[in-house]
Amino acid sequence: MARGDGPGRDQPYTERETVEPPDWFVEQANVSDPTVYDRFEREWPDCWRDAAELLDWETPFETVFRGTDGPPFEWFPGGRLNAAYNCIDRHLPERKNQLALVWEGHLGESRTYTYLELYREVNAFAAALRERGVGPDDVVTLYLPMVPELPVAMLACARLGVQHNVVFAGFSADALATRMERAESAYLITCDGYYRRGSAVAQKNKADNARIAVDHDVSVVVLDRLGRDVHLGDDYDDYHDLLAAHKGAEIEPAPRAADDPLFRIYTSGTTGQPKAVTHTTGGYLAHVAWTARSVLDIKPEDTYWCSADIGWITGHSYIVYGPLALGTTTVLYNGTADHPEKDRLWELIEKYAVDVFYTAPTAVRAFMKWGKQYPQQHDLSSLRLLGTVGEPMDARAWEWYREHIGGGECPVVDTWWQTETGAILVSTLPGVDEMKPGAAGTPLPGIEASVVDRSGTAVEANTAGELVVTRPWPGMPHALLDGTDWGSVPDSAEEWRYYPEDSVSADEDGYITFLGRIDDAINVAGRRFSTKELESTVSGVDGVAEAAVVGANDERTGTAVYTFASPEDGYGESELRDAIEEAVVDAIGGIARPKEIVFTPDLPKTRSGKVMRRLLTAVANDEDLGDTSALRNPEILGEIQSTTSRE
Ligand code: WT7
Repeated sequence: MARGDGPGRDQPYTERETVEPPDWFVEQANVSDPTVYDRFEREWPDCWRDAAELLDWETPFETVFRGTDGPPFEWFPGGRLNAAYNCIDRHLPERKNQLALVWEGHLGESRTYTYLELYREVNAFAAALRERGVGPDDVVTLYLPMVPELPVAMLACARLGVQHNVVFAGFSADALATRMERAESAYLITCDGYYRRGSAVAQKNKADNARIAVDHDVSVVVLDRLGRDVHLGDDYDDYHDLLAAHKGAEIEPAPRAADDPLFRIYTSGTTGQPKAVTHTTGGYLAHVAWTARSVLDIKPEDTYWCSADIGWITGHSYIVYGPLALGTTTVLYNGTADHPEKDRLWELIEKYAVDVFYTAPTAVRAFMKWGKQYPQQHDLSSLRLLGTVGEPMDARAWEWYREHIGGGECPVVDTWWQTETGAILVSTLPGVDEMKPGAAGTPLPGIEASVVDRSGTAVEANTAGELVVTRPWPGMPHALLDGTDWGSVPDSAEEWRYYPEDSVSADEDGYITFLGRIDDAINVAGRRFSTKELESTVSGVDGVAEAAVVGANDERTGTAVYTFASPEDGYGESELRDAIEEAVVDAIGGIARPKEIVFTPDLPKTRSGKVMRRLLTAVANDEDLGDTSALRNPEILGEIQSTTSRE
């Protein structure tokens, strides 16, 4: 059956609790055998051999998993492989002329790379990095927008067996400097600037400021994106000059142990400081390849598009490593969904005949608000599967996405994972499972998780609790492998637990609905910020006596940043407002800009002086405050409420 024949359009989704994947999808799906769940359960941990076998190993691993006595854990011990070899070289015999990357840049600018072209550029750049002195223990920081040179540089690092450290291009100079400092990274690849919504962003200025702020020497490569004649100065290298100088070079891919680090990435942790997460070469790559194949149903002949930014883990796993390991064509887009017009994404899906599209719920909510007329202007019939990641996907947005983007027929996978998990852990398998709009799905085959209360006891179905992952998984980061993130090391893998700090509930069928974070992180448009980091930035502003930051519901971004600040005597609100905004933008970047800054003479506090953030969240959400008797200063709430504007 071809797409178009199935039951689709005329059946209102509100009348059904579950949605079956259509036959035409199941028939062609990479994974469609329902026994996969039982087999993975029965054969755990050996089941993960399936994932490792998607890769080429230079030295075969001795066993799948070591660590049944508890951490340290090892996935595929003894095995050696190179990630760039797996993402490029091994595809050359069969598809050297197939497109690996399709890039769409600023206003009509586009470029493509076949696997052979990607091979050549990655080799040349790897040779250049080596000549610049990059060696085994170095960390190379990449501070680039969505341009093909970003995956090229990542793969060049992987080829040499050195870690990359991608820093989101929208981050500020301060944020870049902290991440370079903490990584002791002495190499930086950046660009002169790039276009965003039609205007140029001066990336190199930020990089220069970061370079000054970092305590050690930094060698910098600059990619010319703006085409202006910038004089770089002697202590910079020009990306294209380096490529030209190393044209035709071939670098042997360095064989890496399965648990050697492939890259590091920073995320928000429970402290005010960004937290480094390092991922392995073997376990990580096997896990992303397996999930890209089974959940995103990627095939080599597909054109696949994940609209995330490579600056986040989503882009690492599902724009670069997963899709390229499977030998598909992956789309890179340097732009926004509404520029020049609100049909930009649909125009690109039509132009490239995209088969699989993966985006964030916040984007879907924006599409919904803009209206169905934009997707309707384009032929989206090439789409076979849709996905979302990053934050909870409500049933209404799910249904709209399937109906107006997926032609009423494409399966939609709501995939749950984290920077720390490296790859998807919870989702439906689109070729196997029925979908339930509003719930992500069950733990994937080989993943064991449950819902527990504060004491760690399992809660009943449909009761809110905390998610706990109860078995190691191949994509786990080093801190979990070696147990350094674990206070009391358990003496068996069975007793091992990982708490992602997400609050959830599961229904009778084990389908998990995600409710939000339980820690102090705020998830804005699928990006995670630490409350503590924001608070310390705001309280650091001259004239701010005290500050609290909370996340509150926002139609567009899911959650928005609300800041409550009490000014010191003699400071005016409008000057403070500007200073706070500027401080946040300087410390983190425009993406963390507070939606609202509320000034109050005091923050609501318990008798012991603890700030009651729960009440501030309720104020920001315009919700009932409930019992406020524990407060030392309950009268302050009325005052705060009267100054908070809720649209
Ligand atoms: C947090 C991880 C991994 C990709 C992007 C974010 C939230 C992620 C979902 C989902 C509900 C989700 C969780 C998680 N999250 N996916 N499908 N449904 N919530 O990575 O920055 O490490 O954030 O994003 O709260 O813990 P991250």
